[in-house]
Amino acid sequence: MNTSWQQHLLPEIHTLKSKRVIVRVDWNMPIKDGEIIDTSRFDVSIPFLKELSFAGAKIVILTHFGEKGESLGIIASHVTKTLPFISFTQSLDFDEIKKSAESLEEGDALLLENVRMWKGETDNVPSLSESFASLGNIFINDAFSVSHREHSSVVGIAKRMLSYFGPLCARELENLSKAITPVKPAILIVGGAKISTKLLLIQHYLDQGVTVFLGGAMAHNIWKGRGLEIGKSFYDSNLKISDTILNHPLILTPSDVILESGEIVDYNNIPADGMVVDCGDQTVEMLGEKISSSKTIIANGPLGLYERGWRKGSEEVLAKIANSEVTSYIGGGDTVAIAHSLHLLQNFTFVSLGGGAMLEFLSAGTLVGIESITNQSK
Ligand code: 3PG
Repeated sequence: MNTSWQQHLLPEIHTLKSKRVIVRVDWNMPIKDGEIIDTSRFDVSIPFLKELSFAGAKIVILTHFGEKGESLGIIASHVTKTLPFISFTQSLDFDEIKKSAESLEEGDALLLENVRMWKGETDNVPSLSESFASLGNIFINDAFSVSHREHSSVVGIAKRMLSYFGPLCARELENLSKAITPVKPAILIVGGAKISTKLLLIQHYLDQGVTVFLGGAMAHNIWKGRGLEIGKSFYDSNLKISDTILNHPLILTPSDVILESGEIVDYNNIPADGMVVDCGDQTVEMLGEKISSSKTIIANGPLGLYERGWRKGSEEVLAKIANSEVTSYIGGGDTVAIAHSLHLLQNFTFVSLGGGAMLEFLSAGTLVGIESITNQSK
C-alpha cells in the first residue's frame, strides 16, 4: 500500500495561527428549484473549517460548482448563513481578491467565486494557478472528490506552495487504500453509465480474482457485446469491450430485469421494443447470497435508471450490504444519496465522498491531485 501521503498530513492546527491558508473543498452540491437538496458535502467540511477559524488561521476557500461555471450564489448564501465567519466575494479580479485576502482577520474566511468561472481552471493554466497560489502561504486539499481532475485549483496550486491533505481527504486515502487490494472473497458492484471510464477498474479487480457484478447500462454493453438483444436499453455504442472482460468467468450481470412496462423478463429474453430500467428480484437474491459469503464489497453507481425513479434494485442491494457483516466501501453521488435516504449510511465501513475520483483511485492507486502534493519536496 502506498502510504507516502501520510507524510503530507496537516501539522498541528495551532501552528496555522495567523497563516493565510487556502482550503480547496468540494461544495458541488445538487440544486433543485433554487434550493440545495443535499448539503452533505458542505456539512462534512464544517468541523475542520471551525477548527481552522478557532485556531486563528486566515482562510481562503476555493470550490467548484457544476461543469459550466455558474455563480456560487445559492451555495454561498447557505455557507455564509451557517458559518458567519465566512464572507463571499463575487469578484473575479485577482488584485481585488488579493486585497480582501490580505485584510482577513484571524479566524475569518473568504469564499471565492466558483473556480470554474476563471478561464484556465480546467486546463490547469499556470497563470491562474499562480494567481490562486498568491492568495495564501499554505494550501490544503480537502476535496478528494475532485482530485482526479488536473485543474489549477487542485493540481497547479499544490505544485506552487507548501501543501497538505485536509482531514476529509486523509480519511478517503486511508480507507480507500485498503479497498485497492480487498480481502477476498470480494465483490465489486458497479452500476451507472460511462462504462468506458470503468474498464480499468474492472480489469484491476478481475486480475485479483474479485467477482465483478455489472448493473445498469454497463450490463447492457456486455450483453450487446455477446450478441444478445437489449431492445431500446441504454448502452455506450462507441465502446468496444475486450473479449477478456466480455467472457471473463468472474463477470456477473443481472439474471432478470425489469422493463419500462413493468414486466420482468430473463436477461436473455429482452424484447426488441423493451427497455431495461432495473434489475429484478432474482438478481437481488443472487447478489444477496454473494454478499453474505464475501469478506469485502465495493459498490459504486446505481443498478437501475435511478434518475427516472427506478431505484428498487439499488435500494435492496444496498440494504443487503448494510445489513451484512462484510467490510463495505460505497461511493458515487447516486449510491450515497440512496443509502442516505434509507438511513443506512452508518452501516457501511466507509462511505466515500468521491464518485469518479473513488473509481480512479481504486484502479490507479493514486490521483493527479494526490501526486501534486506527495511529489512535493519539503
Ligand atoms: C463530483 O461531483 O463528482 C465532483 O464534484 C467532481 O465534479 P466534476 O465531475 O464536475 O469534476
